[in-house]
Amino acid sequence: LEVVVLVSGGGTNLQAVIDAIEEGRITNTRITGVLSNNKNAFALERAKRHGIAGRCISPKDFASREEFNKEFMEAVDSWKPDLIVLAGFLVVIPPAMIEKYRNRIINIHPSLIPSFCGTGFYGLKVHEAALARGVKVVGATVHFVDEGTDTGPIILQKAVEVKAEDTPEVLQKRVMEQAEWKLLPQAINLIANGRVSVRDGLAVISCENG
Ligand code: GRF
Repeated sequence: LEVVVLVSGGGTNLQAVIDAIEEGRITNTRITGVLSNNKNAFALERAKRHGIAGRCISPKDFASREEFNKEFMEAVDSWKPDLIVLAGFLVVIPPAMIEKYRNRIINIHPSLIPSFCGTGFYGLKVHEAALARGVKVVGATVHFVDEGTDTGPIILQKAVEVKAEDTPEVLQKRVMEQAEWKLLPQAINLIANGRVSVRDGLAVISCENG
């Protein structure tokens, strides 16, 4: 499976995928490129350290979003990906890309969708909202990306307990360590081994022996 990873920040989810490939927990898979909208994203440094091609294309460098979308799509297409992984990517995916790569774009979101998701729910804001609501369980979700925000078919979810003294930062770290960094590699491995399909708008995972 040829994978392109889209990033905007620290790249800890990218790192989890790189490590899983190198340790054989993801098989039949190669990351052919990492693309960021932020030239300072540490995720690009992580890619470089592992000999993975990295590029930066920022909406700020274009007169219009349409021009950015065109250049961005050409960059992704140039790597001919089988799968596009959004790992902390904070730019809206061009609608043309959603169409062209239908059910071949996945995203990791730091909540149990449909809770605490949609526009405005990213990074710490997700955990601040969870603590404000007083939920006892949070978690992460890997889902296919469609035209909406965090609305595509859910592939995997993992629950994480909220502890009494949690701050947003402490909760975010627990969700990343116990859920995100496990789920994203698992989802990519399932897809790489042909075990995920979408039927009637729902993602279905077939058992080991097909
Ligand atoms: C994390 O909060 C993750 O849940 C979300 O984006 C943030 C960036 O994580 N998807 P990363 O360290 O850049 O992977």
